[in-house]
Amino acid sequence: MSNEKKVRAYTNIALIKYWGKRDEKLFLPMNSSLSLTLDSFYTETSVSFEDSTEGDVFYLNDALQDAKATQKVSRFLDLFRQEAGITSAAVVKSTNFVPTAAGLASSASGMAALAGAANLASGLNLDKTTLSTYARRGSGSATRSMFGGFVEWEKGTNNEDSRAIKIDEASWDIGMVTIIVNDKQKSISSREGMKNTVATSPFYPSWLESTSVDLANIKEAILAKDFEQVGMITESNGMKMHATMLGANPPLSYWEPDSVRAMQAVRNLRQSGIPCYFTMDAGPNVKVLCRLSDSQKIKDYLVQTFNPEQIVISGPGKDLEEISI
Ligand code: ADP
Ligand code: DP6
Ligand code: CO
Repeated sequence: MSNEKKVRAYTNIALIKYWGKRDEKLFLPMNSSLSLTLDSFYTETSVSFEDSTEGDVFYLNDALQDAKATQKVSRFLDLFRQEAGITSAAVVKSTNFVPTAAGLASSASGMAALAGAANLASGLNLDKTTLSTYARRGSGSATRSMFGGFVEWEKGTNNEDSRAIKIDEASWDIGMVTIIVNDKQKSISSREGMKNTVATSPFYPSWLESTSVDLANIKEAILAKDFEQVGMITESNGMKMHATMLGANPPLSYWEPDSVRAMQAVRNLRQSGIPCYFTMDAGPNVKVLCRLSDSQKIKDYLVQTFNPEQIVISGPGKDLEEISI
């Protein structure tokens, strides 16, 4: 079976964070989360099942990947092979239009695109909601990259109902400015970091309580198109996630000096009358939720401190989509 189609998936940045699993094998999360899909960062992937190939091969950004990286992809493809009754090996080619493993959500777009490409190549033709449960088992945040706009990942009760739901298209003057503080690979993966936080942070139970309140409130604010409320909840929830990490043993922090500078710049912008709010993930980079119509003004201010190449403006991204090669 051969396949000439590519799938593109956009990254997403959580406004209400996922930081911990209750089932590591099935990737069932401790809490429901909610994100904004971005149009400037994405992954394109093709999968082709070929009888003539011995074992799976995985190219990322044109470089043949080692056994460890390939095994991750193989295990994930097994979910599709099993369901479709396919025994042949796969050739996987993927390009990240996002820095890999730097806290800019490459695992979200990467695993969502791989799920989309495997769905095509296997002929399973799963709908996006069902496909989100497959993407989840590659990387939790990938669940939400199935759709554009504001997306909730419902924590669910089992493998089938822990899935993505689109909350809103975000087509009401919403944007995100990313400040790339450092695009190098982090030394502690999200997977490892959250596992240690769940196991050791005394703040974890209060994080969970607080997050379910934040989620209910942000959904209301999104539906009411109350941008400032959405922003305030986003900034607060992100900081609380980082507080749980600081409470872990050993303590964990992904911040760098420039991350703190970036956060202060956002506070200054707010002080000057531009509504904008920051959030950070498992990496040093800072993402600024803003009105898309204010994004150029925000960039103009930020380039006083950072290089223009470090500042990337995004609008809301789209659903997972097929791209012809
Ligand atoms: P990030 O902050 O970029 O999401 P993570 O630590 O969560 O960092 O995940 C990085 C991992 O995601 C990589 O080591 C790799 O296993 C996986 N990944 C990233 N991009 C791709 C891709 N295009 N295809 C398959 N897997 C990918
Ligand atoms: C801080 O989805 O990368 O970005 O499920 O282990 O692959 P795995 O982790 P990942 O974790 C994302 C953590 C986060 C918050 C979020 O995206 O919700
Ligand atoms: Co990730």
